[in-house]
Amino acid sequence: MPADFRSDTVTRPDAAMRRAMYEAEVGDDVYGEDPTVRRLEERAAELLGVAGTVFVPSGTMANQAAVMAQTRPGDEAIVEAEAHILYYERAGLAALSGVQVRPVPGERGAPAPEDVARLVRERDLHFPPTRLLCLENTHNRAGGAVLPVERWDALVALAHGRGLRVHLDGARIWNAAVALDLPPARLTRGADTVSACFSKGLGAPVGSVVGGDAETVARLREVRKLLGGGMRQAGVIAAAALYALEHNRQRLAEDHARARRLAEGLAGVEGLGVDPGAVETNIVIVRLERVTAETFLAGLRREGVLATRMGERAVRFVTHLDVGDGDVEAAVRAARAAVTG
Ligand SMILES: Cc1ncc(COP(=O)(O)O)c(C=O)c1O
Repeated sequence: MPADFRSDTVTRPDAAMRRAMYEAEVGDDVYGEDPTVRRLEERAAELLGVAGTVFVPSGTMANQAAVMAQTRPGDEAIVEAEAHILYYERAGLAALSGVQVRPVPGERGAPAPEDVARLVRERDLHFPPTRLLCLENTHNRAGGAVLPVERWDALVALAHGRGLRVHLDGARIWNAAVALDLPPARLTRGADTVSACFSKGLGAPVGSVVGGDAETVARLREVRKLLGGGMRQAGVIAAAALYALEHNRQRLAEDHARARRLAEGLAGVEGLGVDPGAVETNIVIVRLERVTAETFLAGLRREGVLATRMGERAVRFVTHLDVGDGDVEAAVRAARAAVTG
């Protein structure tokens, strides 16, 4: 088996998680009759500090449902410029919700409130209404950066003060909470909708939730059905997510420590640009000074190590449940060989 640093989505459920799936009590969730899904939705709501959540197959559906539930075609959303929802979701905001995006630059994924304020439209016959602000924590393209709590609070206050709703893509909110040693609900405070994934660092095979207040949850259920996300005996997968929530959250600190160690090792390899101090969670982004991403990744693969391309001269390593200390050492050795091309 290669040491697989491509993503924290590559984990396979272990025996205990599979047992929880095997034993799950199930029903038809489209009729609201799956007790395990219900339990998961309630537990996730409690952890995320929202009235309710809706279980969906993917983080992408969670994000897109959140936007669809809170906008109308012709609305505008201010979205952090490197956010997953904008970068990696097939232009879903345009294609599914008919929403126009105004990107706002972020520093390590965190926009400045004054930059957001500048982009909120005045009321004018010519302008689309600005309806929504979309943020991400932790931020994937910013190398797993944590959105500072004070910045989050300031952005929420600004958005609400100007009549905008706020969506938080919290696919990796569990990592942010562990990194800051704060409850996840603190990091979502004030969000109108929040999404979170079980299939990333928590190690479940599939599943995400999207939540908000009671009225928003009702709308999210309608939108989930529209998007084809109504699932039947989904308790089989919800059981894995519940297991992951209870057993795999605190251990994310190990992933963070390994990512930091990996970054320190890679920083010692000539031709690689990486700042270990910038590694806050489980993602390490490396700039390549001598070879292209393709060449570097092919070299890693020859040494039994997998990572992903993040640009012509950048690659991403992600630590997770299925990589250990030996894999970190193997990755540093492989990088030393791969950097010469
Ligand atoms: C920040 C972020 N949001 C959303 C998603 C989408 O999740 P999914 O792959 O389950 O659709 C990802 C996936 O990597 C992500 O990194």
